[in-house]
Amino acid sequence: SSGPVSISDERDGPPSRDPFNPFTAAFRRDPYPFYRRIRALDPVHWSFVGVWMVTRHADILRILKDPARFSSQLSLWDRYQSNPKFRSLTGEPTPCAAVSEQMMIFRDPPSQTRLRRLVQQAFSPRVVQTMRPWIESYVDRLLDEAERDFSRGHIDIIGDLAWPLPVGVISEMLGVPQADRDFIRLLSRRFAPAFAPMTPGPAMDAANEACAQFVAYFRDLAQERRKCLGPDLLSALLVAEDTGDRLTQAEVISNCFLLFFAGHETTVNLIGNGVNALLRNRDQFERLQKDPGLVPNAIEELLRYDSPFQIVYRNAVETVEIGGRTIQKGEQIFVFLGSANRDEEIYPRPDVLDVTRQGISPLPHVGFGHGIHFCLGAALGRLEAHAALSALLRRYPRLDIVDSVPQWGDNILLRGLRALPVKL
Ligand code: HEM
Repeated sequence: SSGPVSISDERDGPPSRDPFNPFTAAFRRDPYPFYRRIRALDPVHWSFVGVWMVTRHADILRILKDPARFSSQLSLWDRYQSNPKFRSLTGEPTPCAAVSEQMMIFRDPPSQTRLRRLVQQAFSPRVVQTMRPWIESYVDRLLDEAERDFSRGHIDIIGDLAWPLPVGVISEMLGVPQADRDFIRLLSRRFAPAFAPMTPGPAMDAANEACAQFVAYFRDLAQERRKCLGPDLLSALLVAEDTGDRLTQAEVISNCFLLFFAGHETTVNLIGNGVNALLRNRDQFERLQKDPGLVPNAIEELLRYDSPFQIVYRNAVETVEIGGRTIQKGEQIFVFLGSANRDEEIYPRPDVLDVTRQGISPLPHVGFGHGIHFCLGAALGRLEAHAALSALLRRYPRLDIVDSVPQWGDNILLRGLRALPVKL
């Protein structure tokens, strides 16, 4: 069940004899041996928490390619109507549910198609590319600042770079004033656990409060923009039009939140997990130093090797067979992208980080998902990771890890480090 369960640093979730239990401290430290084992043992696995857990690349592609049978619609989620995550005692949607219901990521066609088309216009690759010089200079500014404060003897890749970068970028794009960015960043941080499985009650309360504050903030900002449209993404979303169709104000705000949130809770971990993997496989870091032209390929390999976005959710719209198991209509599925990306059936030596690995750029790793929900921000995420990695390689040839034990956070959906202190 999805009742409140306290999961903190070293504590495990509910005890279980399930051969695949992702709610343990050992799993959070290193999920990959667990994935490997369940792929061999029972790749479409009925979990003790009452959902299907799918771990093989082939089965996962089948699911992601078939949105008609495997829905993303939030309202179909198992126990949605009675889940305290989404419904208050009086049956009202919680702030998290109200906001999330309007996000394209939690919708199916035709409504997802419509939202995506309208947002895509304002968020085109052309718009993203114009950000390149700004992003590159922002990375250098962040690193200059971190160096100035080098009295600690190290900089923190997460706190000093990977975390402020995407927040700064998406705030700049949306036109969030400088003075408000820390506040918005905090709200987004508090929202992050809302969609992780087994989020404890107090974290859920904080997520709901953050959501309500975010909506109130963006409602005011949107009102100001309507009076005086600017060159920013928020203004563009307010007037985006497709054959007479427009986004409603609630849709603009929800999907702003999605861009904001999806844009940084993932990018922070692409950079953080990426630098961590490269420094723990020093030959790969040095390989990139010798040949910075490999950075784009390395980014695809890092998305595969330690995926920032480990799990996506789907719901069976009808009874369907997958990998020899029968999934009943209405049952929920956890799609383990992080496992697909280590599948030995697809990738030779899947547990080896190889920045020269061929044939995975830009697919078939599923780090950005696959099919109609394929990450809308992939180009921006790649651009930010490229700017960050290139700057680190250029500036710090002797970059090295300080902590021998990586400090993983407890969100199993958005896998990432709490901190990554490095010597320059
Ligand atoms: C969707 C991963 C960056 C915006 C997705 C999905 C994945 C993903 C796996 C598919 C979810 C599903 O199928 O249910 C990542 C990773 C990133 C990243 C690993 C690391 C850099 C970004 C950025 C933005 C963004 C920078 C925008 C600022 C979105 C949006 C969707 C999405 C709007 C929903 C698309 C839809 O439902 O049609 N992302 N993302 N992402 N991502 Fe990203």
